[in-house]
Amino acid sequence: MTAKDAAGVAALVRRCYGDGYLHERIYHPELFFADQEAGHHISEVAVAGDGDVVGHWAFVFHGPAVAESGMTITDERYRGHGVASRMEANLHARLEKIGVKWMMGEPVLVHTATQEIVVTRWEKGAITGMRLKSIPHIDLEGFKEQTEHGRISLAVAFGPLATMREHDLWVAPEYAALVALVMEPTDWPRTIRTEPPEDLQLPEATVLSSSFDEQLVRAEIDVETIGADLSSAVAAARDEMQVAGARFIELQIPTNGPAAALAGLLDQGFSFAAFLPEMRGHADLLLLQWLDDPNVDRSAWQLLNPHVESLADAIIAQAELAFERKNA
Ligand SMILES: CC(C)(COP(=O)(O)OP(=O)(O)OC[C@H]1O[C@@H](n2cnc3c(N)ncnc32)[C@H](O)[C@@H]1OP(=O)(O)O)[C@@H](O)C(=O)NCCC(=O)NCCS
Repeated sequence: MTAKDAAGVAALVRRCYGDGYLHERIYHPELFFADQEAGHHISEVAVAGDGDVVGHWAFVFHGPAVAESGMTITDERYRGHGVASRMEANLHARLEKIGVKWMMGEPVLVHTATQEIVVTRWEKGAITGMRLKSIPHIDLEGFKEQTEHGRISLAVAFGPLATMREHDLWVAPEYAALVALVMEPTDWPRTIRTEPPEDLQLPEATVLSSSFDEQLVRAEIDVETIGADLSSAVAAARDEMQVAGARFIELQIPTNGPAAALAGLLDQGFSFAAFLPEMRGHADLLLLQWLDDPNVDRSAWQLLNPHVESLADAIIAQAELAFERKNA
C-alpha cells in the first residue's frame, strides 16, 4: 500500500461500511499510511484498471513474532474473483520473509469466505474458538440480509508460519473437552493435561492486569501469574470491568504450567472462548469469556463445516452454563 493507495483504501472502506468501521484510523490516509511505515501493520491492496482501490487486507503486528489478520475488504463489484485470496497469499509470503512465526485472526461468522481462507490457505491453520457478542453491531455491504442483530460474534483463528514446539497444555477439566475439540482437525504438538501434581505450590497472589475498551464496550483481564487467590482476584477484576460498563470480558490464562489446571472459573461466569497457541513467549493462551447476556442470535451465521458447527454448539452451551452458575 502506497501513500496514494491509502486514500483509495479509505474510500473503499466508506463504500463497504459507511462511517461505521471499527478501525477509525483507516479513514485517515496519512495516519494509516504512517502506521504502516512505522511498522504497526502491513497492508496489501488490489487496484483496478481505472486506478480505484478495490481490495485491502492487513496484518497488524503484536511484537516481532505474531501478526493479526484484519481489515479485509473486497469491493462488492469485484467479489468472488479471488481478490481477497490473492492479497492474503501476498501478505503471507511477506510475513514469512520478515520472520513472523504465528498468525491469528477473527473471521466473521455471517459468511464463510474468511473462515475458508484460514482453514484451507493457512497451512496447519484452524478456527480455535469464538468470541461471542464481543463487538458492537456493524453492517457489511452486500451482507445486509445476513446481519446479526445486536452485538456481533467473531471466530478466532490461528495459523503457524514456523514449527510449533512440542509441550504440555494445562487446562482446568471444564475447558479440556473444548480445547480437545479445537485441536481435533490439527496436528499441533500439544498434550492436554488437567491434573496438577498434588504437591503443587501456588504463589499467594495472582498477578493480573485489566483494561477497558470504551469503543467496543468490552474489557480484557490478562493473567500473568496464577496464585492461590485466582478466583477472588478474577472476580474483583470482573466486577470492576462490569461497573465500568463492559458487556464482554475476555480473560487470558497462560497454559504453560500446571497451575492453569486449577483455573476453573465457570462459577465466576467464565466459559471457554478460544485457544491461541504460542502467543506469549513460550506460553499458549486459553481465552475465556464473560458475557452480560449469553443469548446468542445465530440465525445469520454461516459456518464453514460440521467441525466449526460443533465448536459453536459447545461454546454457546458453555456460555449459557457459566451464566447460570454465576447467577445461581
Ligand atoms: C470477505 C471478502 C473480503 C471476500 O473477498 P473476495 O475477494 O470475494 O474473496 P475471494 O474471491 O478471494 O474468495 C475467497 C474464498 O471465500 C469464498 N467466498 C467468497 N465470497 C463468499 C461468500 N459470499 N460466501 C461464501 N464464501 C465466499 C470463495 O469461495 C473463496 O474460496 P475458494 O477460493 O476456495 O473458492 C468480501 O466478501 C468482503 O469484502 N466482504 C465484506 C467485508 C468482510 O466480510 N470482511 C471479512 C471480515 S473477516
